Amino acid sequence: MRVKLLVTGGAGYIGAVVVQRLLQDGHCVEVLDNFSTGHEDVELPGAVWHRGDISDAGEVLDSSFNGVVHLAAKSLVGESVEHPERYWHGNIVASLRLIDAMREVGVPRMVFSSTAAVYGEPQVDKITEDVPPTPTNPYGASKLAIDQMLTAEAKAHGLAAVSLRYFNVAGASGALSERHDPETHLIPNLLRVAMGERPEAKIFGTDYPTRDGTAIRDYIHVVDLADAHVRALHAATGGEHAVYNLGTGIGTSVREIIDAVRDVTGCEVPTSEAPRRAGDPAVLVASGDLAAAELGWHPQRNARQMVKDAWNALQQFS
Ligand SMILES: NC(=O)c1ccc[n+]([C@@H]2O[C@H](COP(=O)([O-])OP(=O)(O)OC[C@H]3O[C@@H](n4cnc5c(N)ncnc54)[C@H](O)[C@@H]3O)[C@@H](O)[C@H]2O)c1
Repeated sequence: MRVKLLVTGGAGYIGAVVVQRLLQDGHCVEVLDNFSTGHEDVELPGAVWHRGDISDAGEVLDSSFNGVVHLAAKSLVGESVEHPERYWHGNIVASLRLIDAMREVGVPRMVFSSTAAVYGEPQVDKITEDVPPTPTNPYGASKLAIDQMLTAEAKAHGLAAVSLRYFNVAGASGALSERHDPETHLIPNLLRVAMGERPEAKIFGTDYPTRDGTAIRDYIHVVDLADAHVRALHAATGGEHAVYNLGTGIGTSVREIIDAVRDVTGCEVPTSEAPRRAGDPAVLVASGDLAAAELGWHPQRNARQMVKDAWNALQQFS
């Protein structure tokens, strides 16, 4: 069935790929973005654009919308430690105003971009949704607060809500690729080194208790992630707030990603070793079992494919 959806943050990395997928599925998609970190040149033919802040979503939403996919956020861990107030206002307060606007006109469902950062540094092999969330920075805390807001909103006012807790998102969909500034993510930074735009990449921590001493993360392809959003929109149930971890369940080390980048690009990737960063756990891997069982979601693309697609996007479109 064709429905009308508002996507917040659709000019950003993940939001653009989600919008692309929703348009491909035939939905009417409107985008609300303030372009604080998003890109003006994103090409998504068929989408209706609103330049504005999510705090002002009331100016865009009306009862014809079937749902909101809420990706817009500030998402830099370091900035959140230095300026937590930006995260309380920009993420928590602004999201509350978005939820208020939805309630006022009766928009029935929301799929929300939560994050693995809500879990902090759990000492488990695979993180399931019942691991108690203990965020270690204001970014993770702000996302957890919105998750809790959604739980209460669903119970009190009947919203159909789904939080998707993404692990490490990577890869590209054609030209739609990761272009954060500053870029804090491993794969795009390694590709910049491969292209010769940066002299070397730093490996933070080579003495972790892992198979090669470097940190292990769960990388998830942005196209697989977009698929989970479509499934979550379908599965969302009035009065309920569901939470799913989105990862592959497979951990990949920093050195393994570096090897994949060397292999895919055929380029030198000089590295240097640096101490561990505070708050970087040895291993963060999701259990995707709940999303598989309840959403029928099965990610298809491995870390090498993520590197390959991100490299192709850089080569062809930058
Ligand atoms: N990239 C990852 O690995 C990752 C992992 C976990 C969770 N997430 C979450 O996924 C979402 C998207 O991440 P991304 O990597 O695409 O980030 P991004 O910065 O590329 O995109 C965010 C978009 O939201 C817009 N935006 C921000 N604040 C806004 C506001 N107040 N009003 C309107 N628009 C606003 C920005 O302009 C941008 O277009 C975020 O909520 C992030 O916390 C990302």
